[in-house]
Amino acid sequence: MMVSDSLYCTLWMLSFFGQYLGEDLQFSGPANGAVGGSVVFAPDNPPSTSINIVQWHFGSTLILTAQSDSTTIVPTYSNRVSFDINTLALELWNLRLEDSGIYRLTVVTSALDQHTGETSLQVFEKITNVRLIGPEDLLIEGESSANISSKGTGSITSVQWMKDNSPLSPSNSIIFSSDNRSVSISPVQRSDSGEYQCTYRNPVSSETATLSLIINYGPEDVSIKGEDVVDLGVRASLSCSANSEPAASFNWKINGTDTNVTTDTFIIDETDFTHSGDYICTAWNNVTKRSATQKHALLVKVGGGGGLSSGAIAGIVIGVLVAVAGICGLTVYLTKTKKIPKLNQQQKGPSGAAQSREETKARGDGTVPGKMSEHIYENDKHENVYENVKLEDSRRP
Ligand SMILES: *[C@@H]1O[C@H](CO)[C@@H](O)[C@H](O)[C@H]1NC(C)=O
Ligand SMILES: *[C@@H]1O[C@H](CO)[C@@H](O)[C@H](O)[C@H]1NC(C)=O
Ligand SMILES: *[C@@H]1O[C@H](CO)[C@@H](O)[C@H](O)[C@H]1NC(C)=O
Ligand SMILES: *[C@@H]1O[C@H](CO)[C@@H](O)[C@H](O)[C@H]1NC(C)=O
Ligand SMILES: *[C@@H]1O[C@H](CO)[C@@H](O)[C@H](O)[C@H]1NC(C)=O
Repeated sequence: MMVSDSLYCTLWMLSFFGQYLGEDLQFSGPANGAVGGSVVFAPDNPPSTSINIVQWHFGSTLILTAQSDSTTIVPTYSNRVSFDINTLALELWNLRLEDSGIYRLTVVTSALDQHTGETSLQVFEKITNVRLIGPEDLLIEGESSANISSKGTGSITSVQWMKDNSPLSPSNSIIFSSDNRSVSISPVQRSDSGEYQCTYRNPVSSETATLSLIINYGPEDVSIKGEDVVDLGVRASLSCSANSEPAASFNWKINGTDTNVTTDTFIIDETDFTHSGDYICTAWNNVTKRSATQKHALLVKVGGGGGLSSGAIAGIVIGVLVAVAGICGLTVYLTKTKKIPKLNQQQKGPSGAAQSREETKARGDGTVPGKMSEHIYENDKHENVYENVKLEDSRRP
């Protein structure tokens, strides 16, 4: 390579006075690179006149010197640098952390105008293997504390926490470590249940790890849904629910006596009167080891209208039949014993009735026929009855 004395002189002047000369070559912002990656530095405004000589420096270390027809790269950069004389762009690859720093471009035009500019590079290790370590024990609301700590490799410039996709903010019970790499929640509340996301970031990479927390609580707000009063002979069910994490298990007592029902719904296929009583649902949380109960009074009553069971109908029918049979029996008895006269003859005439009355009284036996006659006397419409009585009586002797 031929470099004239005047050129060396120029370069000496540049390096001596460069810092006082205007930095007229512009770069679009500092550059970031990843370890093992590459970066390109190119001025936004390369000189428009023809170039005499170009140099790129890293700090005070020369990287390369170029003229229109040749480029000389120093040995330490020889296998990881390329240069484009048209754009003055320097490409650097196989980046290392130590490549971070200031890169300076110096240009001398053929008219011996000098131009300089500088840019900076920061090299980051890519972030990998980010993970969260959470509590191993089951968490119980109001009792447990939870620490979530994060780990990961790479150059970490920021750590950000989210919960269920919203930023996680510190509070009385949520405390971040000073480096933001761990979060402590104490005591935990049910609202702390959810998915925690921790993102490690640097300008060239980021990685997020997630962890779900479940806060166990309850049971509480046990409630029983179902009717208070049901008809006899129908299907009935009571349904128990509770606010609980994990879901509560249930069991039922009636009047304080255990049943074998362990579902949330208690079903009576067909109600009878013995099903009335106090139904007590107990909700049990096997993690918090807590239980809570609720009571529901159920009354089985005879249904109105169409609600009768076949058994009830049978009972009513039998009852009616018994009553009818009883009336018939009584009638027969009374008839046979002549206490109710047969209506088998017709005789008319108030005079006859009066006459008969006289005859009856005259007989003076003073028994039932006499009473009958008195009755008839009060109400002439019944004179036929009287006549019958009279006729029977008169036949007897
Ligand atoms: C959480 O971490 C802090 C400090 O890092 C520690 O004092 C505390 O005992 C931890 N709590 C739990 C539940 O591990
Ligand atoms: C921790 O994160 C908060 C916001 O999430 C931020 O304001 C704070 O600067 C961070 N601290 C560190 C040391 O990163
Ligand atoms: C519950 O089940 C056990 C055995 O399965 C039985 O011995 C017991 O009588 C049952 N109790 C009731 C109230 O049904
Ligand atoms: C519960 O008690 C009530 C009143 O003491 C009784 O009428 C009812 O039959 C009882 N129910 C059951 C299912 O034992
Ligand atoms: C609670 O019960 C559920 C199901 O019945 C079971 O899967 C779980 O392991 C139990 N948890 C504990 C802590 O006993």
